[in-house]
Amino acid sequence: MNNPMNTAAHPERTREEWQHLDRQHHLHPFTDFKELAGKGSRIISRAEGAYVWDVDGHQILDGMAGLWCVNVGYGRKEIADAVYTQMQQLPYYNNFFQTAHPPAIELARQLTELAPRFKQVFFTGSGSEANDTVLRMIWRYWQLQDQPQRRVVISRKNAYHGSTLGGASLGGFGVVHEQMGTLIPDIVHINQPYWYGEGQDMSPEEFGLLRARELRDTIEEIGADKVAAFIGEPIQGAGGVIIPPATYWPEIQKICDEYGILLVTDEVICGFGRTGEWFGADYFGVKPDLMPVAKGITSGYIPLGGVMVSERVSDVLMGDAGEFYHGFTYSGHPVACAAALANLAILRQEHLVTRIRDDIGPYLQQQLRTLQAHPLVGEVRGLGLFGAIELVADKASHRRFDSKQGVGMRCREHCFQNGLIMRAVSDTMIIAPPFILSHAQVDELVSKAWKCLDLTARSIAG
Ligand SMILES: Cc1ncc(COP(=O)(O)O)c(C=O)c1O
Repeated sequence: MNNPMNTAAHPERTREEWQHLDRQHHLHPFTDFKELAGKGSRIISRAEGAYVWDVDGHQILDGMAGLWCVNVGYGRKEIADAVYTQMQQLPYYNNFFQTAHPPAIELARQLTELAPRFKQVFFTGSGSEANDTVLRMIWRYWQLQDQPQRRVVISRKNAYHGSTLGGASLGGFGVVHEQMGTLIPDIVHINQPYWYGEGQDMSPEEFGLLRARELRDTIEEIGADKVAAFIGEPIQGAGGVIIPPATYWPEIQKICDEYGILLVTDEVICGFGRTGEWFGADYFGVKPDLMPVAKGITSGYIPLGGVMVSERVSDVLMGDAGEFYHGFTYSGHPVACAAALANLAILRQEHLVTRIRDDIGPYLQQQLRTLQAHPLVGEVRGLGLFGAIELVADKASHRRFDSKQGVGMRCREHCFQNGLIMRAVSDTMIIAPPFILSHAQVDELVSKAWKCLDLTARSIAG
């Protein structure tokens, strides 16, 4: 039903009209503008549970939970009610200048309860801002430790840490760096633990150790007294769902401990349950000093991010250090915090995280692996509610397609046409569905994926 207060609704507009207005006035993130102008956007106008609908009424299973975020599914009235109530009581107040409000305080308390290794939370508006905050905290921490020369943050190639200057510099996408021209200095990228793509001449375990030990080599090269921190996503998401071999994270932890450098796990995607544990660090058994979070903290209903700060860092920042000159107007926005509290309540009450560990995660992984039999598929990998399907030109040799063929994009298009959202990272199709996915919806996802792989194979052959 159209709500007259909803000025965006305009039920009288057709798809073509929306597409026209979109083309005229709206610049999209991460989009080839010219290519989009040629075909027009797909206009999504409503959603419920694990499905979205476009303005023409096509129902699409959302295999990506929006952008890895709508973990509790669409249409949760509990979150809408919490937001509405908070909007009426205190729609905004800041946390600067020695003020605070109950939603931010309570959310910080609950987060530190969920991840007891962390003492405090600094709120931001997004994952990118969280990673910028991480950089600021790392540098401030070492200044206060009388080691201001410790500046270098070691990250990884093909990492994604956001789109602000800090986030994009920390990230490891060459194409992004090329467009930026100038990066934030003192950030160094080492290789990623991508066994299928880069390590198949050895066992995954050996490869995991090899890639982790690049951290030690790099620290030695730079000089241990200059290195401040290491940052990594527990599972690289936007880089193509790269799941590190079991040996990788324990070795990284060992090296960070050995050199006393700060360990940061970017939990923007892994955080709040997707691995079947509350945080990726819990899954891999590591003990980060800082943990940027976002996305799943509110299931994407309202933008919110933050940095969880361990005692090690917090004690130094909170010591006799003077002011930390950093913050955002929307740090700990009360409405966003209210949405997060309602979201956390749903995750707990419906046991959605243990459901991923014990039920829907294993079922998805088992069913997803049936796609391995498809002639186009080189590898299916996944963990919890993460999945990746690598498309190859030759299964036996793992030979890839020529990138000009745009095989991943073709597959993505077939998926959309056939009622399924999968994302393409080059020729790897990735999924990160909502946690409320039913067994029947897993079956639907996998059978639609098979059909779309067939259509993709046919379109390449034709
Ligand atoms: C691991 C990781 N860090 C940071 C970000 C950036 O978050 P945001 O888009 O909220 O700025 C993302 C976004 O996908 C991410 O995947």
